[in-house]
Amino acid sequence: MPTLRRRGRLHPTALPVSDFEFDCLARHGLFYRDHFLPVKQANVVRSRAVRLSRSNRMKEAGMGRGQRFRVDSATRGDQISWLERSDIPLFTQRLEHLRVEFNKRAFLGLKSFQTQLSFHRQGSPGYKKHRDTFRDSGSRRVLTAIFYLNVGWKPELGGQLRIYPDSIDISPTHNRLVVFLAELEHEVLPVQGQRLALTTWFSA
Ligand code: OGA
Ligand code: NI
Repeated sequence: MPTLRRRGRLHPTALPVSDFEFDCLARHGLFYRDHFLPVKQANVVRSRAVRLSRSNRMKEAGMGRGQRFRVDSATRGDQISWLERSDIPLFTQRLEHLRVEFNKRAFLGLKSFQTQLSFHRQGSPGYKKHRDTFRDSGSRRVLTAIFYLNVGWKPELGGQLRIYPDSIDISPTHNRLVVFLAELEHEVLPVQGQRLALTTWFSA
């Protein structure tokens, strides 16, 4: 299994991405890490995200861009909002560290990133199989990084992220970061609880 469970002995900012994680990314196209942020920071990110998820900034999520954009709640059941830099500065800083680190160590040439808050209500069908790359865009999405914010998530609530071709299922548990190649097909299984995530796309 291409996973890494860090016990938190190293301060997370001391080593943004480990050799093992890079190796997983190169071999399997993904890795995930628990305890991504120190507990207090993770809770700050969560409470800001919860507040945002209850605000009037949330919109029904769609698929595709420009003229191809459409909303289809059977295909994708979440509500979303784009994150502004000032919404959760400490989180945006950590993403910037990751961007620099990926470029230094894996030569990915990532120039920018954008982050979206995603909220699935209980009973959401999830998000059917798709890739995160858009053919009609100038910049290319290379990496997807998702940070989950669901304290006490239980397997019976579903909502796992399934990444193909190996059908690896990842539960959206609090303070877990998953990183995968945007070109890999993936889906969100039907959701039986309230599911909150911050999804970032790093583009080249
Ligand atoms: C997406 C996506 C997966 C997840 O937003 O494109 O695939 O686990 N999200 O929330
Ligand atoms: Ni996706």
